[in-house]
This record gives sequence, structure tokens and C-alpha cells, in this order.
Amino acid sequence: MTGISFVNAAKQHNICKKGADDVYILSVESSCDETSAAVVKNGREVFSNIIASQIDIHKIYGGVVPEIASRKHIECINPVIEEALAGASVTLSDIDAVCVTYGPGLVGSLLVGVSAAKAIAFAENKPLVGVHHIGGHISANYICHKELEPPFICLVVSGGHTNVVEVKDYGKYNIIGRTRDDAAGEAFDKVARTIGLGYPGGSKIDALSKEGDKDSIVFPHGHIEGFPYDFSFSGIKSSVLNYVNGCNMKGEEYNKADIAASFQKAVVDVLVEHTISAAKEYGYTKIAMAGGVACNTSLREEMENACNQAGYRLYYPDPVLCTDNAAMIGAAGYYEYMNGVRHGYDLNAIANLKFE
Ligand code: KG4
Ligand code: ZN
Repeated sequence: MTGISFVNAAKQHNICKKGADDVYILSVESSCDETSAAVVKNGREVFSNIIASQIDIHKIYGGVVPEIASRKHIECINPVIEEALAGASVTLSDIDAVCVTYGPGLVGSLLVGVSAAKAIAFAENKPLVGVHHIGGHISANYICHKELEPPFICLVVSGGHTNVVEVKDYGKYNIIGRTRDDAAGEAFDKVARTIGLGYPGGSKIDALSKEGDKDSIVFPHGHIEGFPYDFSFSGIKSSVLNYVNGCNMKGEEYNKADIAASFQKAVVDVLVEHTISAAKEYGYTKIAMAGGVACNTSLREEMENACNQAGYRLYYPDPVLCTDNAAMIGAAGYYEYMNGVRHGYDLNAIANLKFE
């Protein structure tokens, strides 16, 4: 093994006898740079959630290197699955179905999880359920908020996706808004690189912005004419780059904390505005957030303020369930399984799997 350490992100649980109606899901996630496996009961209770992160390897290169990611997944997948079963004090015979992310993501990374899940399902003769990664992110909310039920509006903000989603029912989604270019997390990562903060940039910008003045620099708020819920983050990314280049050319120092805070404000303003107006227009009073950027302190605060003003209830997962993990796939997969979704052994990894 490669020095990648595992964490079990599950909270303590009481090991009790499996009830007749209980459904235990073994879930697997390997779409990007986290190898993760979990055991989830009835879609909401997490028995184990093992996450092996490759961040320390990829940060040397300033971003995820797909070929390295696939190789590390191959090294980690079996020990991570074994650890998930051991951490939940179950064996494969206790498992009712195997759920796995089959897209979207890096195809080489996805293939590792999909192959492992197929092999287990085949060897143990268990149902196999392929899960959409975004459905997984949204479903992390079901783990942290036992009372949350659809319908609601969910803002999905990760390194690969930015969507305002109408969650009509479990596993039934309607995308109201989407990004036309970069995802929100991608913009955070690129701006962090521009000001020399390293990878992954989102949490670094979040931390540094607390020392900066968010009103010191005005960066553009991306809006798309005629599409009130869509996003564009490429303009703000270029604007930060121009600002930094301008300072360098003039031999002026720039304040990284002010840039971080002003950039973050521009992104958060747009995310909050579009989500709240979608909830108003579509008649929802429950709003959820999901994905890595949903960890962002300022986004949480500003969305909370806006929801309080509008009389809406806001939900978001614990930070460890916002970023990639298998428990969220177990939550989404449980509802797919209950809806009768089954995949064959020809299930393939689909890098650009559509959502809807
Ligand atoms: O959901 P995720 O783990 O992976 C994808 O499915 O993409 O999200 C990772 C993204 C990265 O772009 C990372 O910079 C961002 O989430 N992120 C944050 C924060 N924590 C992680 N962005 C802003 N503020 C944070 N605190
Ligand atoms: Zn993700």
C-alpha cells in the first residue's frame, strides 16, 4: 500500500440485530480522487464510511492527475471495502444490495469502483445498483437530516458541478439551473492557484477570506441573460487573473486575503440569489445544499440569512458528507433499490453521465 490513510467518517452507532425490514447497502464511490466504501442502513443510518483521500499525492501537481488516481484506486479499493464491512461489523452475507457510482467522473477512476462492485455482486449473488454521483451528493442530506423528505430545492456545488435542482421525489430530479462554463468549486480551485494558495483551493480561500475585506475589490457577478438560474464563473476567474497581472505589471503588492474575500463574496452572492429566486418561483420552502462547496462558511451563513428572511428552512450535510464519500451513494442507492432499479453485469462507467 501507498501510505494513503483511511478515515472512518461514520459516527458511533449501536450494533443491533438486523430487523426483517432492514436494508443494508454496501456502497462504493471512486469517481475522482477519493476511494470510499460504506455500509448504510435504510438509506439514512451510516454504519461505516471509509474514505481514502489521495489529495496529498495530487496536490504536488496542482490538481488531480487522472492516471495516478486510477492506479491509487486499484491499490485502495479492496482494503477500503474490507474496512467498511469490518467497521460496520457485518459480512457480505448481511448486505442486501451493492450500490456504486457509475458516473459522471474520471472514467479510469469510475471503472475501478464499478468493477469491484460488479465482482462482489456477482460473487455474492446480490443486486447491483448504479448511482448517479450528483444524486449521491443531494442524498447526503438524508443522512444528516432524518426528517428531510422531498420535494425541495437543492443547490449542488462541487468541483465538477453547479446546479439548482428541483428534487421532486427520491431519485426524481429536474435541473432548473446549470453552469455554462466552470463549476463553482473549479473557480475556487483556479483562483486559489492564481494567488498561490495551492490545491485544493476551496477550503484555503474559505480560511484566508476571514482575514480579508470582502468589499475591497468588485469582481463581476455572472448572470446569463434570459436564464435567471444559470451560472457563469469563467468571467470572475479571468477578472481575478487580470487584477493580479495588473498589480504585478505595476509592481504593486496585492492583498491575497482581500482577493479571496471579494472573490468568494461574488460567487456566494450569485449562488444564494439564484437558489432563493428558484425556490420562490417554483414554490418551495425547503432548501438544501450539497457538494464540496457546500462546506463553505460564507455560503452557509449567507444562505442561512437569506432563508431566515424568506421564512425558508435550510439543510446541508456535515462537511465530511459534502465532499466525495460512499455513504451518500448508499443513501441515494437505497431509494433507487427500493424503487426497483437494478443494473446488470454490463454496467459501465460513464464519464459524462447525464442527470435527469
Ligand atoms: O464534491 P467534491 O468533493 O468533488 C466533486 O464532486 O467535484 O467537491 C470538491 C470541491 C473542490 O473544488 C474544493 O475546492 C471545493 O469542493 N471545496 C470548497 C470548500 N471545501 C471544498 N469550496 C469552497 N469552500 C470550501 N470550504
Ligand atoms: Zn462529488
